[in-house]
Amino acid sequence: MYKIAVIPGDGTGPEVVAEGLKCLGAVAEKFSFKYETTTFDFGGERYLRTGETLPDGALDELRKFDAIYLGAIGHPDVKPGILEKGILLRTRFELDQYINLRPVKLYPNVDCPLKDKGPADIDFVVIRENTEGLYTGSGGFLKKGTPDEVAIQTSINTRKGVERCIRYAFEYTRRRNRRKTLTLCGKTNVLTFAFDLWERTFHEVGAEYPDIKRDYAHVDATTMWMVKNPEWFDVIVTDNMFGDIITDLGAMIQGGMGVAAGGNINPEGVSMFEPIGGSAPKYTGQGVINPIAAIGAAQMLLDTLGETKAAECLEKAIIEVVGTKMKSMSAGKMGYSTSQVGDLVAEAVRNA
Ligand code: IPM
Ligand code: MN
Repeated sequence: MYKIAVIPGDGTGPEVVAEGLKCLGAVAEKFSFKYETTTFDFGGERYLRTGETLPDGALDELRKFDAIYLGAIGHPDVKPGILEKGILLRTRFELDQYINLRPVKLYPNVDCPLKDKGPADIDFVVIRENTEGLYTGSGGFLKKGTPDEVAIQTSINTRKGVERCIRYAFEYTRRRNRRKTLTLCGKTNVLTFAFDLWERTFHEVGAEYPDIKRDYAHVDATTMWMVKNPEWFDVIVTDNMFGDIITDLGAMIQGGMGVAAGGNINPEGVSMFEPIGGSAPKYTGQGVINPIAAIGAAQMLLDTLGETKAAECLEKAIIEVVGTKMKSMSAGKMGYSTSQVGDLVAEAVRNA
């Protein structure tokens, strides 16, 4: 019996999470495993009501689950940063989810903005460090609001944090068993301290993986190759900030935010899975948002629980529905409502 914590969150989060759970129910029945869900109301509404982002004890509570399934965090009436830092980043940090795993995979018949590129060209994975870098909140102001104001925001890179991320990436590349190439994405020509550590660690750890080819690209060049020659990539490993940026580009080349899913992974603890697109407040409550990313997050959750067959079946169902039924991956243009898309995927699972 798996215990799954569900945080539907803000905006369209609850709508897409409902469809993910619908599909999870369908695969659970087919593959005869059992799970129970516990829902938490963390998000903007709760914050506006109580002034609280995560209540005391919430993280200890979340630690008891086998996995966390998250919709989206972000509310138009809450100042940027409060919910992101107070809920999303805090959970990533305190549960030590040090990997942010973001597959970039274009499914057949899904519209891609890149001319002459198809599913054979766009199939790679970004492994983003998820607990350090510019995201730690290290820094501050001096003389704020005066002409002499100073603002400092420091990128923290620890040998331990960098090494465990890079090691995970080598292991992942080996397990994935495709082009057996791991690309370090950095900026060694300018960030000569942080990425010196990354580069040294990359080659030291990489020496233990003679079967994996090591490649390097500066982050600016990475964005260029992702558009020009995405087929060159197998697995990319990078720091928190660069990983954040290049995975939005990744989402676009795989068909849009409606498709992109990610996992915040603690390989030794509790992981959290989410569609990476955010709360999309303008579409809230209209039943037009694409739930495929959330269903893809459920697929990643199953894979991490070790329900590999169930995860594969769910991915096949997604491929069938996006490839043969849906008109578009964009909100309001799918040819179906949010819940109809969930129904189609659940049905494809049952018929598999
Ligand atoms: C993401 C998001 C978050 C991030 C924001 C909401 C804090 O953009 O998951 O990519 O920057 O990590
Ligand atoms: Mn982002």
